Amino acid sequence: MSSEALSCQCCCDEESDQQKYQRIAEIIEKYKNREGSLIQVLHLSQSIYGYLPLELQIFIADHMDKPLSEVSGVITFYSFFSTQPRGKHTIRVCMGTACYVRGGKKLIDRLEGILGVSVGSTTEDKKFTFEIARCIGACGLAPAMMIDDVVFKQVNPDKLESILAKY
Ligand code: FES
Repeated sequence: MSSEALSCQCCCDEESDQQKYQRIAEIIEKYKNREGSLIQVLHLSQSIYGYLPLELQIFIADHMDKPLSEVSGVITFYSFFSTQPRGKHTIRVCMGTACYVRGGKKLIDRLEGILGVSVGSTTEDKKFTFEIARCIGACGLAPAMMIDDVVFKQVNPDKLESILAKY
């Protein structure tokens, strides 16, 4: 992990938007003239700001001397970039074929009830962002889901509340 991302994790909560933009401007200055630096800048910007709203996209485009369409295009293309505020943790329920057949939809329905939001949304307390995945490599032990980097296999819908309680 880069030093920029590390420094973000320890001070983001106290930083004002102005300070965050200042740090992003410094990162752009550092990476601007490197080949293929836009993705790197967007990654670091998202780790500082939490997501990539339109105003920030415009700021990045201006400072990198790139058209806004190029910046927005990259953000839209890669699913790990978000233009909406994200929760502290990301839940991804697998809806690949094996998981779908073995009850992935039940997990989705139950989680929607527990979290009070639908797929693609973030809970009001900003704790969880709830998404679906296409296959997370645990097909033999479906249905599966992930919370951040942790994979949960053969998930029983009745256990979801206790799983989430640990977060
Ligand atoms: S289909 Fe769900 S892990 Fe592969």
